[in-house]
Amino acid sequence: MKAVAQTGTDIASLNDIELPKPTPSGRDLLVQVEAVSVNPVDTKQRKAGSPSPRVLGWDAAGTVAAVGPQVTLFKPGDAVYYAGDVTRPGCDSEYHLVDERIVGRKPQKLDFAQAAAIPLTAITAWEAFYDRMKVQKGRSLLIIGGAGGVGSIAIQLAKIAELKVIATASRPETITWCKELGADHVIDHRKPMRPQIEALGMKNVDYIANFNEVDEHWATIGDLIAPQGAIVLIVSNKAPLNVDAVRAKSAAICFELMFTRPRFQTHDMIEQHKLLNQVADWLDSGKLRGTLKQTLSPINAANLRKAHAQLESGTMIGKLVLKGW
Ligand SMILES: NC(=O)c1ccc[n+]([C@@H]2O[C@H](COP(=O)([O-])OP(=O)(O)OC[C@H]3O[C@@H](n4cnc5c(N)ncnc54)[C@H](OP(=O)(O)O)[C@@H]3O)[C@@H](O)[C@H]2O)c1
Repeated sequence: MKAVAQTGTDIASLNDIELPKPTPSGRDLLVQVEAVSVNPVDTKQRKAGSPSPRVLGWDAAGTVAAVGPQVTLFKPGDAVYYAGDVTRPGCDSEYHLVDERIVGRKPQKLDFAQAAAIPLTAITAWEAFYDRMKVQKGRSLLIIGGAGGVGSIAIQLAKIAELKVIATASRPETITWCKELGADHVIDHRKPMRPQIEALGMKNVDYIANFNEVDEHWATIGDLIAPQGAIVLIVSNKAPLNVDAVRAKSAAICFELMFTRPRFQTHDMIEQHKLLNQVADWLDSGKLRGTLKQTLSPINAANLRKAHAQLESGTMIGKLVLKGW
């Protein structure tokens, strides 16, 4: 089967290769991959290197081609979408193995490319809000990095959760995108945020979801979080964090890593199957809209190199997908 693998750490080391088609066992599905999305995890994993050629990619949509003997949730022919498990080979291959408990049914109204744009970011935002911060309706939420992949679905999920959403964006096109997705207010993360929050008539925010660099925004987060509020971080901090301001407010600091459930095979990993199905329902009913902004075809090394370069520029709006072989 065709695949794209890293053979080094730089973008040029993404290469087309041939691999044997895998066979499913246990609860694995063998998925015929139709489209894949790219995420910053791909570029971070690539830069970390690998001793042997490694297939990256953790966002896919496709059709179940075969199932392992213990599979109960899907059958061959089912259309599915999923993010997968970073401790296993990625989905940048014609066929791919994935545990059924972290796979959802593909939204019917979305084509494969549109569907592939959703899973990793939707799992991240959902788990950040419901499983980590345990948000309650009517409260305020600041989303730092509103127009990126995670922010684009997070703004919409936060509105479904009936939160007042203040998203951040720094360019005219990203500001417009955040508003289109339903943000109640948009402020600029490249300017001091306190005056912008106060200009909205607010002193603090109940929840802060930081979907970008932690070190850069940490002092602002400690200043803006409400007493007894909650903060969720999805990116690693580079320097130790001074938690004094947050401790004084008894605010919760939560971490969200969407690979935790598959990586540690937690007892509740099937929650990702359930949430992806709920997100599919909302996409089909029009409660959520897709976040795909750009498609490259086919799935090959040349296009994956372009996608990695674009992600590394830090200027993504919504999602970028590669489709077809
Ligand atoms: N822990 C997890 O499970 C998990 C899951 C998914 C992603 N992540 C991580 O979360 C981060 C975001 O992922 P993503 O897919 O949303 O990335 P992305 O799509 O590449 O994000 C691009 C957006 O970031 C915004 N941005 C750039 N610099 C910023 C800054 N200094 N402060 C705030 N926003 C800034 C830009 O908005 P403007 O152009 O308007 O400035 C741009 O729209 C990545 O580091 C990724 O690895 C973690």
